[in-house]
Amino acid sequence: MSNVSVDAKDSALSETQPDNTRRRFLTVATSVVGAVGVGGAAVPFVTSWNPSAKAKAAGADVEVDISAIEPGQLIRVMWRSKPVWIVRRTPETLAGLADHEDILRDPNSEAEQQPAFAKNRYRSLKEEYLILVGICTHLGCSPQYLKDGAFEEAVEGVPDGFFCPCHGSKFDMAGRVFQSVPAPLNLVVPPYQFVDDTTVIIGSEAEAV
Ligand code: FES
Repeated sequence: MSNVSVDAKDSALSETQPDNTRRRFLTVATSVVGAVGVGGAAVPFVTSWNPSAKAKAAGADVEVDISAIEPGQLIRVMWRSKPVWIVRRTPETLAGLADHEDILRDPNSEAEQQPAFAKNRYRSLKEEYLILVGICTHLGCSPQYLKDGAFEEAVEGVPDGFFCPCHGSKFDMAGRVFQSVPAPLNLVVPPYQFVDDTTVIIGSEAEAV
């Protein structure tokens, strides 16, 4: 188990969006870390600058600066009291998504677990970035991110993925559930949109591009 922390800096309120009915807040602080068990990867937990519990309860959008995410890294943010993962996938990971679709339960994302723009092999708006609600679709545990070959203990030949330690459900690097596990559905993709190459807003759905 390991911990990583990044000093928090001054925070700033972001109100750049023309639609003032939505409040967006610049993510500036990173602290704490979730850690996964043996074979897992340390997961920075990005604390968004939320103005009030009231706004959070109302489901305010969360703006996240993703410029510092390294290839293969996963960060977490909170959105509507749920953990949301943002993973920067490597070209190798993206290429590998086609290799195991015959052992997935819903490889084409037919079940409505994602916005329309994410109904594709990558389940994302931009192939490089995977954004998921980090809650197992079985009974709600938090799956672990296993990378760099660690996931092969769960699924032979698949180096990276998500493993739920509660009852053994397995998901690939697009959040697609494997067959023969308790989880019935792929992981949920939340609504989101990119406002530029390095800024994503969780909670506001984008048009397909
Ligand atoms: S809660 Fe994840 S497998 Fe049961």
